[in-house]
Amino acid sequence: MELTFSVTHTTKVSFAESFSGFVSSLGQDCCFVIDRSLESLAELLPDGRVFYIDGEKEKDLNHVESCLEWLIDLNTGRKTMLVAVGGGATTDFAAFTASVYKRGMRLVLVPTTLLSAVDSAIGGKTAVNFVAKNTVGTFYPAEEVVIVRDFFKTLSEQQIASGKAEIIKLALIKGGRLAEMVFNAEDLLSEEAIELAILGKYDVVSADFTDTLEKRIVLNWGHTFGHAIELYYALSHGLAVAAGMVLSQEWAEIAGAKEVFPAKELEKLLQKHGVKNDLQKYKTEEKWRKFIMLDKKRNLDTISMVYLKKTGVPGIIYRNSNDILRDLEELR
Ligand SMILES: NC(=O)c1ccc[n+]([C@@H]2O[C@H](COP(=O)([O-])OP(=O)(O)OC[C@H]3O[C@@H](n4cnc5c(N)ncnc54)[C@H](O)[C@@H]3O)[C@@H](O)[C@H]2O)c1
Repeated sequence: MELTFSVTHTTKVSFAESFSGFVSSLGQDCCFVIDRSLESLAELLPDGRVFYIDGEKEKDLNHVESCLEWLIDLNTGRKTMLVAVGGGATTDFAAFTASVYKRGMRLVLVPTTLLSAVDSAIGGKTAVNFVAKNTVGTFYPAEEVVIVRDFFKTLSEQQIASGKAEIIKLALIKGGRLAEMVFNAEDLLSEEAIELAILGKYDVVSADFTDTLEKRIVLNWGHTFGHAIELYYALSHGLAVAAGMVLSQEWAEIAGAKEVFPAKELEKLLQKHGVKNDLQKYKTEEKWRKFIMLDKKRNLDTISMVYLKKTGVPGIIYRNSNDILRDLEELR
């Protein structure tokens, strides 16, 4: 499928049977940024053309500088293709580096986690951490995203659940066939589900490529509470967002929203797909809540709280952060 983000930026998304098959289809002028945990893939790649990155730990400007030096030493140009192989941390890092090297070199992403396949690799946001998470970045969609589902076989249960949580979020926001798959407990690792999730994200992103019109905000469902939980408990992104989705449904009821998709039903749906969370802990423990103040979508004291009215229909409530904290006291 082809995703068009702007006149100059189109991403072709495809599935490949194997990584070795994909590599053999590449031309000569390529180099690779690879997640260190996938080091063994190097035997398939040309000597000296691989830069390793230790995921989130090295997703920073120091390593961007090292990677740029390496690209210069290799005598690469704008037409050289940088191929990133790894989870979202690796694809964010490589995409940022590719976007600034000689004002943009060719870029292909091979996401190796489910979350990166349906989320990080799609939509053109690149980022590295500087002082705080994802503070430095660009918009630079890859020319190609190649998904090799074999990579998902080695993911931990938590990582799979994290990706599935993201798919369920997109499904319920968009409705349609993907939502049906979620309700019927169909396989969310199938090509069909992954493709529909990507199209779901694309639908939202293409209406607001540079995230200036607040149209991407619906993708933030579960993020206000989810990010706070992720930061405080060091939980994986998708699982924390899944907990945040359920909590925001409960919160929306407390905040007086008229139509709210029932939190309990959502919790059951998530569980059906193996996305399990200790919600009771987040309802009773309070320390994570101070991180809500770090919400990216906060404007002065007002937070844009996304929730789900019903399948395919998200809603937004604008609320003062102190009021949100006070409402949370009522969660049981
Ligand atoms: N650009 C965007 O739009 C966007 C959207 C969402 C998240 N993100 C970013 O994505 C990152 C999270 O993505 P992630 O969950 O993929 O994290 P990640 O890249 O940190 O990968 C998670 C873990 O999985 C390991 N891993 C990767 N592939 C594997 C495989 N095939 N088998 C076994 N282990 C494997 C990694 O080494 C790492 O330990 C964050 O940095 C976040 O900021 C970006």
